[in-house]
Amino acid sequence: MNLKFDKEYWNSRYINKETGWDLGSPSRPLKEYIDTITDKSVRILIPGAGNAYEAEYLHSKGFENVTVIDISEEACWKLKNRIPDFPIKNIICADFFKTEGVFDVMLEQTFFCAIDPSERMNYIEKANQILQPNGVLVGLLFQKELFKDHPPFGGDEKIYRKLFEPLFNIHIMKTAHNSIEPRKNSELFIKMSPK
Ligand SMILES: C[S@@+](CC[C@H](N)C(=O)[O-])C[C@H]1O[C@@H](n2cnc3c(N)ncnc32)[C@H](O)[C@@H]1O
Repeated sequence: MNLKFDKEYWNSRYINKETGWDLGSPSRPLKEYIDTITDKSVRILIPGAGNAYEAEYLHSKGFENVTVIDISEEACWKLKNRIPDFPIKNIICADFFKTEGVFDVMLEQTFFCAIDPSERMNYIEKANQILQPNGVLVGLLFQKELFKDHPPFGGDEKIYRKLFEPLFNIHIMKTAHNSIEPRKNSELFIKMSPK
């Protein structure tokens, strides 16, 4: 793991309220995707979940197997306090790259852009490893140049296809039609399954 963006880095972002990524509500494209899932027993993982509004939404809709992982104790603590009835065993304060388990769905929301680009292949390998064969990785990736030396890190469709294609069948990778206004045309909606 890149030491520069370790748990102290992320804890201090939460403590200092430097959380410009935080939407304060579930991401609209993800919310609309969640609304298409009928089986409430699917095992859903949200890595780098932060305030995890998507997990809260899933929980409120009766999804029974939602797990969030975040490396920041501060984020996990805030989450436990905000959603006291969310199963505590499913709030995992740990490094995503060390995650074990099997999931049907992994939701991506501003976590991929938060990790150092040198870690991207590790993310893809881990997602491939923990998703069951018919599982899906669904979410959003920024399709624009962002920062070079600190998160969020950007990219584009060409870069992401080259990275994901060796390990994933890409079903959808296109500009999200339902991004919130400030992110309009800057997000790719993705849906892919492990090879
Ligand atoms: C940009 S924030 C996004 C939070 C949330 N997904 C959102 O959209 O509001 C990135 C999150 O990833 C977490 N994070 C960074 N590296 C991590 C790692 N290796 N494992 C788990 N979580 C990590 C940070 O603590 C932070 O909460």
